[in-house]
Amino acid sequence: MSGPFDGKRVLLGVSGSIAAYKAIDIASKLTQAGAIVNVLMSPAATHFVTPLTFRSMTHQDVVTDLFDLHSRQAIEHVALAKDADVLIVAPATAHTIAKLALGLADDPITVTALATSAPLVIAPAMDANMWHHPAVRANADLLVSRGATIIGPGEGRLASGLMGWGRLAETPEIIGAIATALGAHGDLAGRTIVVSAGGTQEAIDPVRVITNRSSGKMGYAIAEAARDRGASVVLVTAPTSLNDPSGVDTRHVESASDMLSAVLSACEGADAVIMAAAVADYTPTHPAADKVKKSATDELSVHLTKTVDILSATPRNLVRVGFAAESTNLIRYAQTKLEAKALDFIVANDITVPDSGFGADTNKVTIVSHEGVEDLPMMSKYGVAVEILDRIVARLAAKR
Ligand code: CTP
Repeated sequence: MSGPFDGKRVLLGVSGSIAAYKAIDIASKLTQAGAIVNVLMSPAATHFVTPLTFRSMTHQDVVTDLFDLHSRQAIEHVALAKDADVLIVAPATAHTIAKLALGLADDPITVTALATSAPLVIAPAMDANMWHHPAVRANADLLVSRGATIIGPGEGRLASGLMGWGRLAETPEIIGAIATALGAHGDLAGRTIVVSAGGTQEAIDPVRVITNRSSGKMGYAIAEAARDRGASVVLVTAPTSLNDPSGVDTRHVESASDMLSAVLSACEGADAVIMAAAVADYTPTHPAADKVKKSATDELSVHLTKTVDILSATPRNLVRVGFAAESTNLIRYAQTKLEAKALDFIVANDITVPDSGFGADTNKVTIVSHEGVEDLPMMSKYGVAVEILDRIVARLAAKR
């Protein structure tokens, strides 16, 4: 299953900051994800990292000097600019940001930025005082007003040894911002998709909860795949160990009741809702205000009350998709849920299949709808997300 970077031509501009070494990881991750990455370096960047490092990492030409008449790169950078799907400048120094804002063109990054019509993503890295300087603020604002995306900088320890805002955004955030820029005109552009993820936690007392084995990976993959096709995504997530996906409006909840309010509020004005969360069907009726102490009796029971079915409560004008994790009678149970919750379709997975379902990075699912039953092969959770979204796109088009 192809991801958002498969075969995409990414130009990675590296300017002269100590954070230039982090661009090696960005180049590596993009290449591993299937992108064709050409690195463009400012002369100052070559003092921090060698072109050979990027060449070895990407297996593609690295452009360092536009004025060397003996270099192929001097001519090729125009072709690179023309064919690019996205230009990312990471790290972007205050100086490079100023040149980009003014339209100056005296190094491979700034010349290419003028020559390309591809979207521009900028990941600044500098000292905190520089980032807050009115000149830098104005240049960054100007670039945003022209359609550029600025990702970061983050807060943390800077090269100066001080703490502050100026650290290059983390690689996953930068990769997410590039995916968002690449997908901006995808087939979900202008659509709002609500996704839930993770296993809800129902409090027994202030320290103990009833929860389940959901890792949240499936819901997060759907949120990312929808973002990568241009959707505005609201991810309502129960606690997981995953990082918030970049470019996704992530709302954290704990219990089924919190999730109900968050999902219903996100559904206002949305086009589709996909409930990938494993929502508790029952919650402790009277959670204790204080920690429950061990007592002399050998048994203890917790009285539970049924939760509200969130999917059933979502507005019927949205495309509505559920999940059914089953260990027996997969299709029959999925069909019952499809009917009971009046869904467009349900994604059923047999949790007894190895490498599928809870915690795994892959999933083997069957899509059950009123039109029939489709068995999909084992694939990555991102791949399953793409399949789900393909069907949502078709349903949204049919609704028009
Ligand atoms: N779901 C929901 N609200 C709940 C419980 C479940 O929205 N209170 C959603 C889940 O997110 C999932 C679908 O309903 O998309 C099916 O969940 P599941 O728990 O498998 O179905 P139930 O109808 O609760 O049936 P059972 O637990 O008996 O299998």
